[in-house]
Amino acid sequence: MVKKLDLKDYGIEMWDQPTISAFRRTLLEWYDREKRDLPWRRTKNPYHIWISEIMLQQTQVQTVIPYYLRFLDWFPRVEDLAQAPEEKLLKAWEGLGYYSRVRNMQVAAQQIVGNFGGEFPQSYDKIASLKGIGPYTAGAIASIAFDLPEPAVDGNVMRVLARLFEIDYDIGNPSNRKIFQAIMEELIDPERPGDFNQALMDLGTDIESAKNPRPDESPVRAFSAAYLHGTYAKYPIKLPKKKPRPLLLQAFVIRNQQGQFLLEKNQGAGLLAGFWSFPLMETQLLAKQLNLFEDDSEQVLETVSLQKFFEEDYGLKPVWSQEEFPLVKHTFSHQKWQIQLLEGRVNQADLKGDRDLCWVIPQNFDNYPMATPQKKMIQAYEKNTN
Ligand code: ADE
Repeated sequence: MVKKLDLKDYGIEMWDQPTISAFRRTLLEWYDREKRDLPWRRTKNPYHIWISEIMLQQTQVQTVIPYYLRFLDWFPRVEDLAQAPEEKLLKAWEGLGYYSRVRNMQVAAQQIVGNFGGEFPQSYDKIASLKGIGPYTAGAIASIAFDLPEPAVDGNVMRVLARLFEIDYDIGNPSNRKIFQAIMEELIDPERPGDFNQALMDLGTDIESAKNPRPDESPVRAFSAAYLHGTYAKYPIKLPKKKPRPLLLQAFVIRNQQGQFLLEKNQGAGLLAGFWSFPLMETQLLAKQLNLFEDDSEQVLETVSLQKFFEEDYGLKPVWSQEEFPLVKHTFSHQKWQIQLLEGRVNQADLKGDRDLCWVIPQNFDNYPMATPQKKMIQAYEKNTN
């Protein structure tokens, strides 16, 4: 049995029972008046709620709605997700980022079909045993779909709680999550846990947002220690994160005489595994492959060994253009990409080698799952050549 965390050890004084009851009432009355009408709030179907929660971890509500509706249209039942072909799965997620999440969802769907007879598990522990479902998502599904009194602590909820209790612990440090979890275990309304969790989420994304909070409008300001003590601007404590590492990449935009472009499927296991793109390599790795010194890596393109590389790996002999393109930039949470484009033309259309390659006209790009950096490359290319 895990020892229960004592909030006093962290300098946090929990409210008495009448205050907790008044807080629940105040928050839920506000939610009943103000809650947003969202498609996933019209259902108790755990499969639907799960999809919405995973999508909402990536982007905001307004962006999620069309993705959510299309996902359910393409994969109406958990069995459909379990059996979906990879290309369609990635297409459904295209533009949302963090593609490992949708791959994990498919594995979880297979677990539900294989281990739970196709029926979504109904206890917190079983839900949390599914691939890709952490404590936040398990709490959200358990409370919203099954009315279980389980907290769903995300960044928004932590921000609201940090202000209510003047919590001096960094909300960006995962090991502090347990403090917020312990507060929520006391506060959560056992009668309406799903609404209670969602009310805090709504509050945290709007009135108590990170960038433009409107503390005077908060329905729970009378409970907020930070508001009452004039320390609102200090909370939550969020220490700066490590900056994303800059990474230089080289992309090859190769066109044949039929106006088709060379696309390559990423066969790796990394960030953009399974996606199609113009042939793309880290400049440093490419320079190594071409036997350049690191200092020369910016001049990859002027070397004869590039020709040899293309002939050996792609069966192509491109003629490179002198066109200069602006760097294409894209930032992931841990990497900041700067992509140089090089344009080349070829006469032949036959391809060889171990790579997954194909020729595609721009009108058909949509049939290939592409991540945002590739979309930006296409835009940069088209803008400079039209
Ligand atoms: N963010 C994450 N889950 C949410 C939900 N169920 N409603 C609104 N915002 C959310």
